[in-house]
Formats: sequence, C-alpha cells, structure tokens
Amino acid sequence: MKTMYWKDDLLYLLDQTILPREEEYLVCGTYQDVITAIKIMVVRGAPAIGVAAAFGMAMASLHGEDMEKAATEMKNARPTAVNLSWAVDRVITSDDPVKEALLMYEEDMETNRRMGKHGATVIDDGDTILTHCNAGALACVDYGTALGVIRAANEEGKNINVICDETRPVLQGARLSVWEMQQENIPVKLIVDGAAGRLMQEGQINKVVIGADRVAKGGIANKIGSLMVALAAKRFNVPFYVAAPRSTFDEENSIHDIEIEERDPGEVLGFAGCQAAPIGTEVRNPSFDVVPSDLITGIITEDGIVDPF
Ligand code: MRU
Repeated sequence: MKTMYWKDDLLYLLDQTILPREEEYLVCGTYQDVITAIKIMVVRGAPAIGVAAAFGMAMASLHGEDMEKAATEMKNARPTAVNLSWAVDRVITSDDPVKEALLMYEEDMETNRRMGKHGATVIDDGDTILTHCNAGALACVDYGTALGVIRAANEEGKNINVICDETRPVLQGARLSVWEMQQENIPVKLIVDGAAGRLMQEGQINKVVIGADRVAKGGIANKIGSLMVALAAKRFNVPFYVAAPRSTFDEENSIHDIEIEERDPGEVLGFAGCQAAPIGTEVRNPSFDVVPSDLITGIITEDGIVDPF
C-alpha cells in the first residue's frame, strides 16, 4: 500500500484515520481538500504532509488559484512540522509545480533509504528497539525515517525486536507502526506509553529510535510522549537516536520558537467515540514534545549521523 500517489492531477491519500481496520484511499481534487486531509490526519507525519502539501500547491497552480493565499492556508494546516512550509515554499518558487511535487515524492523515497543505511550502523544484531508514534512508510512517501532505520537493519540480516509505544491519544504506534512491522514480519510488541520506562529499567531496551517533526537549535520536536521516553533513556543509559531528513531541519529557529499544535480535547476525553472522562472535564492536548539536545545521542540524516545543534 502506498501512503499517497498522484494520478490524472488528483492526489490519492491512504486514509490513516481508519487504518488498520480498512485500507481505503481518499481522493483530493483541490488544494482545500488536501488542507482538510492534513488537518484531520488522513495523511500525517512530517515528510508525508510535506509531500502532500506540495501536490496540494500543484493543484492550486493547475486551477489558477491565488498562490499566496493558498500557500498561507496550506502552511497553517498544521503548525509544528517544518516540512510543510519547506515544501510549500519549494513548490511556489519552482517553474513547474507538478514536476517539483513529483520530484519531492521521488526524493523522499531515496532520502529515507539513505537514512536507513546510516542508521543501521548503530543497530546491533539482537537489539530490541523502542519507537514512539509512527515514523514509518506511512509518515513519508515510503520506507520511513525511524522505521526506515529498523527496516534497513532487518534487510542487513540483523535480528531485531521492536517495541512500539501505543502513542495516546491518536494511537499512531498501536495502529500504524505495529501494522507496518507486521507487514515486514519484523517481531514487534505493543506497550502502553507509561510502560517504556519500566522496560528500560528492566534492561529490555537497547536503543530508542524515533522520528522528528522539526530539528531546531537546542533539540527536536516530536510526538507528545517523546520527552518522557528521552528522560527515561538518559536515566537508564539507553542510546536515544532521532531519524530525520534535512527537510525537517530548521536551522533559523530554536526549540523555544516552535509552535506546538494543541489538538481537539475530544481526542483525550475518550476513545473510539466513547467518552471515558466525566462530562465537562477540562483538557490540555499538546500534540508534540520538545526534546532538548542533551538527551539526544545522535540525529540520523541522509548524509550521516550528526550531533544536535
Ligand atoms: O501528529 P503526527 O502523527 O503527524 O505526528 C508525527 C510524529 O510526531 C511522528 O512521531 C514522527 O516521528 C515524525 S514524522 C516522521
């Protein structure tokens, strides 16, 4: 299953809101359709929303839309992942938006494979690797960032086990990362988010590999829960790696400048349409954490493993 594809000037997005129960594509015919799909997380994950936004901008150009207005609306769809504005800027300054979006689509796949190869050098035979959220093929065009590193190590014949945090409240770990690992026949176990520290304390995790929505001065932003994983990893001496392509780097800004998306309280109040908390409960639902550089062992990029800056 492809995360997305472009056919006859339409963008087909694998609907991640209903995976793994159903495997269906949502068809986007306008840039506004793409904005809605990004907002409601039909497509999600920093590289994937970047490429989807690029195709959205390509549609805006094909339809003769006001490109500046479309670009502003697109960039505001989700604020935290820097790939979104990076992709929009790249497409609107190109001579041929469709060609540029298709190029970004191809580049994403190539980048992830290169990142996987570099990342696999820090994975040992027999490792058990913890990952958080979904930084897999579904968060990209294909292969994945953090799960790309795991895929590459597996392809090299290393025996690895994967532990996925379920990743409340949207369950990207339980629904998406577990599904991807099962498709590859890579041994995988699911834990609740709060069990990560316990498993590290028991010495059952050898490495943590996660993705990022933005790499900035002083650290990275990634899915909520990443900070607690990083703190536990530091405490129990577990190497903590972040896999992120250069398109996720924001060298202009610091982690203090990153806008953290606050999502719908309904995501936290219950599950699958069932309210769990008392009616009227107040909620905070920040969707991302900021992990400071001192908790990060290395950042795996397509050009090699670098220190956080
Ligand atoms: O809110 P999402 O599902 O779009 O968030 C994505 C993440 O934070 C992932 O953890 C991922 O590591 C970053 S994208 C490869």
